Amino acid sequence: KKGHYDHFMQKEIHEQPHSLTTTMRGRLKDHGVLLGGLKEHMKTIRHSRRIVLIGCGTSYNAALAVRPFLEELSSIPVTMELASDLLDRQGPIYREDTAVFVSQSGETADTLLALDYALENGAMCVGITNTVGSTLARKTHCGVHVNAGCEIGVASTKAYTSQIVAMAMMALAIGDDRISTKARRESIIYGLSDLPNKVREVLKLDSEMKALAESLIDAQSLLVFGRGYNYATALEGALKVKEVALMHSEGMLAGEMKHGPLALVDETLPIIVIATHDACFSKQQSVIQQLHARKGRLIVMCSKGASSSVCPSEFCRAIEVPQVIDCLQPVVNIIPLQLLAYHLTVLRGFDVDQPRNLAKSVTTQ
Ligand code: UD1
Ligand code: F6R
Repeated sequence: KKGHYDHFMQKEIHEQPHSLTTTMRGRLKDHGVLLGGLKEHMKTIRHSRRIVLIGCGTSYNAALAVRPFLEELSSIPVTMELASDLLDRQGPIYREDTAVFVSQSGETADTLLALDYALENGAMCVGITNTVGSTLARKTHCGVHVNAGCEIGVASTKAYTSQIVAMAMMALAIGDDRISTKARRESIIYGLSDLPNKVREVLKLDSEMKALAESLIDAQSLLVFGRGYNYATALEGALKVKEVALMHSEGMLAGEMKHGPLALVDETLPIIVIATHDACFSKQQSVIQQLHARKGRLIVMCSKGASSSVCPSEFCRAIEVPQVIDCLQPVVNIIPLQLLAYHLTVLRGFDVDQPRNLAKSVTTQ
């Protein structure tokens, strides 16, 4: 079933042009999106006072990637909850809320307990899941099947990008009644239709990421700084590296750098800065300058053609990725980091598809 690939994770990474296509199949129209699963409940969702996005691990990160433009397109406040934390706090969930539960397997214990809690509190409960017939799909009021195809590798890869795209379509559908954002929505729809091509292009970085992995094989730790649309990319890239390559890695909000993490910087600690072109670009440029001034071991992810202007010195490595519309850039940007985590794992001699101590579906609390 792995075809000509050595591991499921590798196959699933390279499958993403196809899995993204199946996620969008029959749902993308010229002037809008058609999500059969949400249609009847759209009025309630649009009238909600707040949208709460809830998940664990990679699924939480996918929701975080979508948060900025769900807020933008819906004009409804959007908040984030890790399922376990919502339960620990017994945080407030109201009848006027739409609670969106994101889970690849649809069987994660914390997410399902948070769903029970939100149902008890009378919220409108929406599921985003890759598993038809899962407990999440059955218990939510409505939802969207991610349709990425079965994911076997314990580390989630293609489900992550398809979850982002499924929720991007949800954001478009919720915002569909607003005239002021019509042009923005149309450019996102065009961006979605072209996304599989851009993902095919970024996958060509495979051998470059293998070379980068070789240079990082003995590193103790790896930091990833992102912000805006790509804060989630930093968290998710670091999660991939720690869970499969068994290397300490932290994703951080670049805006927090000066409030502590900067103390860690020296010439040995590798740091990836995500600085593709968007409204936060100039802020990321100044982050790069500050890390360079402290002799940080810099790896910069930038838009194609920008490396000579973004890299402060010849010692800075660049990962050049194709540029897409700002809000979809996280789908492209995570792929080199998935490849990096994969190659680091193989080079370090660890089990790619079955990392120690982890299970594909976490059905206990
Ligand atoms: C559905 C069909 C699809 C068919 C298409 C044709 C299924 C599973 N999907 O897709 O095969 O090609 O119509 O129009 O039969 N749901 C939840 N919670 C979740 C996920 C989904 O309640 O977490 C519900 C939805 O609200 C919907 C149903 O499950 O009622 C199917 O969802 P989805 O597969 O996303 O709908 P379509 O894309 O319309
Ligand atoms: C990381 C990973 C986990 C899952 C988390 C939630 O690669 O796979 O962090 O994302 O356990 O799982 P689901 O999405 O099935 O609820």
